[in-house]
Amino acid sequence: MATRKTDDAIALLKAEPSQGEDLFAKAQKTRDAARKQALVTQICTELTIHALLEEEIFYPAITGQAEDDIIQEAYVEHDGAKVLISELLNSDPSNEFYDAKVKVLSEDIKHHVKEEEKPRVGIFAQARAAGLDLQELGGRIMTRKQELLTQFEGGNLPPPETRSFTGHKMRQGKPVDGGTQETK
Ligand SMILES: [Fe+2]
Repeated sequence: MATRKTDDAIALLKAEPSQGEDLFAKAQKTRDAARKQALVTQICTELTIHALLEEEIFYPAITGQAEDDIIQEAYVEHDGAKVLISELLNSDPSNEFYDAKVKVLSEDIKHHVKEEEKPRVGIFAQARAAGLDLQELGGRIMTRKQELLTQFEGGNLPPPETRSFTGHKMRQGKPVDGGTQETK
């Protein structure tokens, strides 16, 4: 008997970034700095949880079952997003680049989601084709998600942990002086 796959691993993982998209739209629209920061913290929390669920459970399960390059690309995209998440969590809307960082993060995530959900070649399509036990993975993902939600409640996020970036030193140069917008 065919069952509807509403709680399999892929359905669960797919459901999350779409929420993120909605939150991004709200964060980009609001002029209230406190609300913006709260929304961005919520986005960062959701994305952090999503990345952890994939990196701890889904990507290891698909490793060896899907093309290596597509999995590696996903890790690198996650790590790129973590840099922006870290920047956002350590600043506030008064930072002149805050809105730009929110926008670039939203674009990066949109790209990442599009890649993962690509028909036939995307990581999700490859997982289905490989015949992974998606219900079992989905169960593990839901359990771990509950743990992480409790752990990160109220924006209590640890510094992001990279998987593919090896932490080369970067030197902070002279900050760009964007000037303040004066209204006359
Ligand atoms: Fe992902």
